[in-house]
Amino acid sequence: MSKKIRLGILGGGGNSLVGILHRIAAKMHNKYNIVGGVFSRDWDSNIEFANEIKISPSRAYADYEIMIERELKLPEDQRMQAVSILTPNFLHYPMAKSLLENGFHVICEKPLTTTYAEAKELRSLVQKSGLVFAVTYTYTGYPTIRKIREMISQGAIGEVQKVDAQYYQGWINPIIHKSETRMDTWRLDSKKSGISCCIGDIGTHAFDMLEYLTQLKIDRVLADLNYLYDDNKMDIDGSILIRCTNGVKGIIRTSQIATGENNNFAVMIYGKKGGLKWEQENPRVLYYMQEGKEVQIIESDNINNDLLTKDTILPPGHPDEIYDAMANIYNGVAKAINKEAYEHSEFPTIIDGVRGMNFIESVVESHEKGNVWITIDNK
Ligand SMILES: NC(=O)c1ccc[n+]([C@@H]2O[C@H](COP(=O)([O-])OP(=O)(O)OC[C@H]3O[C@@H](n4cnc5c(N)ncnc54)[C@H](O)[C@@H]3O)[C@@H](O)[C@H]2O)c1
Repeated sequence: MSKKIRLGILGGGGNSLVGILHRIAAKMHNKYNIVGGVFSRDWDSNIEFANEIKISPSRAYADYEIMIERELKLPEDQRMQAVSILTPNFLHYPMAKSLLENGFHVICEKPLTTTYAEAKELRSLVQKSGLVFAVTYTYTGYPTIRKIREMISQGAIGEVQKVDAQYYQGWINPIIHKSETRMDTWRLDSKKSGISCCIGDIGTHAFDMLEYLTQLKIDRVLADLNYLYDDNKMDIDGSILIRCTNGVKGIIRTSQIATGENNNFAVMIYGKKGGLKWEQENPRVLYYMQEGKEVQIIESDNINNDLLTKDTILPPGHPDEIYDAMANIYNGVAKAINKEAYEHSEFPTIIDGVRGMNFIESVVESHEKGNVWITIDNK
């Protein structure tokens, strides 16, 4: 068994949504030690949180540049090897760039950057450096999702003829109707979020998931975005027609004003012989539909009882198996860093991250040009 990978974390402090998920996931397969980081931009919260999670105060840094500089001065066998970026979107690019230029493997939250151009620049840096770079499209780590991918590739539903992904949340409804409450979230601030809110935040998950499951490439989109108010410049809902390179048609439906919804991400893939349906809020259950047969309900038996908590830490709609989903991604990344054998489907890479950014910009362009077809350039 190789030594544990020394992991640093940027963002993901006590008040954050996604930090706890990464910290638990990193530990689940016993392959990482969290050794330091910058957990918050506020120094007091940063140091308080480092203490709380038992990080040596000498490894809690004021910002990522200082972190990189100081880590490089440590002996190689103590230095961080990989760093997870869990900050708001606008910080992903400068942080990832600096980490790659200084020899650190990177695990980065989605969307990869705030622009497609930045994403392509990171891709060149990864290709030049040979470092491992993962983009955490978390849901691809669910055991049932990996099973669906395998079933489709083994012909369980025959040739794919229709794809449909729906990602509905309602959490923006309470803050969107008054301009003064909109700034309660950085996701509605284009300087922090990028050119899109809903498509960047959750539409990218749907896009990545459809490509992951079917192994098809989506190459054209026609989008109708919804902003609700003229003085709101960030999309909060959108319907997107899609076409894949082989002509397969489908739809991505996303919303953050689906009032009352928590994290209703569902995927339906239909082939000539049958269909497969999966819902994130009940992720162990897979519906397998075949022409002329009763619906088969396949339940994954992969539940980790140690992680069942009495009260949930994550917001409603994120069932406990999501820890396994993220842990599977971290496990794949560890194999790559340790140069062990792994399947390329074990974690989303920089390529998936770049495609995600290409998707976001194409969708916004389609809407702004009057709902026209835009080709995703795939360059
Ligand atoms: N994969 C998923 O399913 C998923 C789910 C939620 C969020 N995300 C992504 O994770 C990222 C973070 O989202 P969130 O909802 O956790 O955000 P959040 O606002 O809840 O937390 C952001 C964290 O970053 C810290 N931070 C801000 N500026 C910083 C800086 N300069 N240096 C260090 N830390 C800093 C904040 O203090 C906070 O702890 C986003 O890119 C988001 O898109 C992904």
